[in-house]
Amino acid sequence: MTISPPVSESDSRILKLYRSSIGKKLLTGITGLAMSLFVVVHMLGNMTLFFSAEAYNQFGHFLEQVWPLTYLIELVLTLSVFLHASLGIQLWLTKRQARSEAYAVYESAGQSPEKPSYQSLSSRSMIVSGAVLGSFLVWHLLTFKFGLRYSVSGSEMRDLARLVIEAFQQPLYTVSYVAVFSLLALHLRHGLWSAWQSLGALNQNVRPLAYGLSLIMAVLLVLGFGILPLAIYFGLLS
Ligand code: HEM
Repeated sequence: MTISPPVSESDSRILKLYRSSIGKKLLTGITGLAMSLFVVVHMLGNMTLFFSAEAYNQFGHFLEQVWPLTYLIELVLTLSVFLHASLGIQLWLTKRQARSEAYAVYESAGQSPEKPSYQSLSSRSMIVSGAVLGSFLVWHLLTFKFGLRYSVSGSEMRDLARLVIEAFQQPLYTVSYVAVFSLLALHLRHGLWSAWQSLGALNQNVRPLAYGLSLIMAVLLVLGFGILPLAIYFGLLS
């Protein structure tokens, strides 16, 4: 059984694609990759705080100055987040309905070298990790983007460095952020290679490589994001 409404002849090709399972997978993959690109750039941008508070604030200020580009990126990101989440939920519901009954014990498919199974904790927890990441994003934006507006004295520049440092001096922020980064890694560990798979970019030869690279990327991201809150919390950065 499928939850998608029937596709009529008059529907546009885009709508047909959106309603088909293949189209949903494709759009989930494309939006997921767009967000992953943002996440990598954001992580690298965070690293400027290791150089100095000035460098971090200058970077934030620069992004405010190139506002037409920033607004465009924000628009693409917002659309990607909503599309990705709604398609992810639809795909998950369809899969759940397709299973006549849930497995009492979850057993991974065959591990033979000819047809290895790519099921993992990461692939099975996508809906949960995705839901937590969505809620995190609301909290994150309320704290940093729309939160307290400190200014660098004598200028109009936002003092984002002060905001970030004050947040991660509190255990609530550091512990929850590090926990969320672990879930982000879990989500991307499956999401990254699965997106390329949905785009048809992987054949049997490169699939194990993409699978391994996704794991490496996920680990680098959790380390790259996690190091800043931990450094601040333990007083190495103030
Ligand atoms: C230590 C980790 C992080 C720090 C210190 C951090 C810091 C910030 C700050 C200061 C802003 C506001 C920038 C501004 O208003 O100019 C921001 C925005 C944002 N962050 Fe993070 N962030 C972190 C992790 C993440 C993660 C893991 C995600 C996604 C999963 C994320 C997604 C976003 C988004 C979508 C925005 C809004 C961007 C925009 O509207 O231009 N951040 N972050």
